[in-house]
Amino acid sequence: PHVAVIVVAAGSGTRLAAGAPKALVGIDGRSILRHALDGVFAAAPAQVIVVAPAGFEGDAETEVREAAGDRVDLARVVVGGDTRQESVAAGIAALWGDVRTVLVHDAARALTPPAQIDAVAAAVAEGTGIIPALPVIDTLKRVDGDSIVAPVDRSELAAAQTPQGFPRAALEAAYDAAAAAGIEYTDDAALFAAAGYTVRHIPGDARAFKITTPDDLDRARRLLAEAPA
Ligand code: CTP
Ligand code: MG
Repeated sequence: PHVAVIVVAAGSGTRLAAGAPKALVGIDGRSILRHALDGVFAAAPAQVIVVAPAGFEGDAETEVREAAGDRVDLARVVVGGDTRQESVAAGIAALWGDVRTVLVHDAARALTPPAQIDAVAAAVAEGTGIIPALPVIDTLKRVDGDSIVAPVDRSELAAAQTPQGFPRAALEAAYDAAAAAGIEYTDDAALFAAAGYTVRHIPGDARAFKITTPDDLDRARRLLAEAPA
């Protein structure tokens, strides 16, 4: 109860280059946004805010109706901004009622297991944000031009996923502080930590990968063909 999920879907999908906003691109018979929303509604949130690209609110409404079924009253569609941070801020501004925990989720992580959404929501505590993350498996180097400067100890690193979960009041305060300072952060966890709060991580899931490039879209298509959501 009291959990809202903000699904940010307002990006243009420059790297996917599919000729439409990324969230509305089809994976199988269903769009990236529809798959993301199927996962979100399977997690039984109290409220869902979909942040849509300007001019595509109607398309987003259609996806929401189909994913939500008889729970459509739990969902609202708002228009996003030029940056992900502005889009999340638009989602936060649209929260209503007595929401205590806010999850911010990338629509582009279309195949995220509902269990990951539930686990993040359950782990949020007062003053503490939660992100799902995976260990880094690549061998990483610090570089300067074409020179290798140093090895990087990957045991000190983790690859962040979404949803990222936060106590509502603290997240609102952190977003206000970022807007006042005019600082653009890489993700919500960085913005939240910059305001002085704690962030912890829980295990992520390979299926929560972000669809960024055409290869990623192919991967999502293969996964759905093997194990339909
Ligand atoms: N996003 C958003 N508003 C923006 C930018 C991004 O809501 N102004 C959302 C995207 O829709 C996506 C998530 O943030 O679900 C992660 O962003 P990313 O994968 O970078 O998507 P795009 O910005 O659309 O892709 P690209 O960077 O290739 O243009
Ligand atoms: Mg982007």
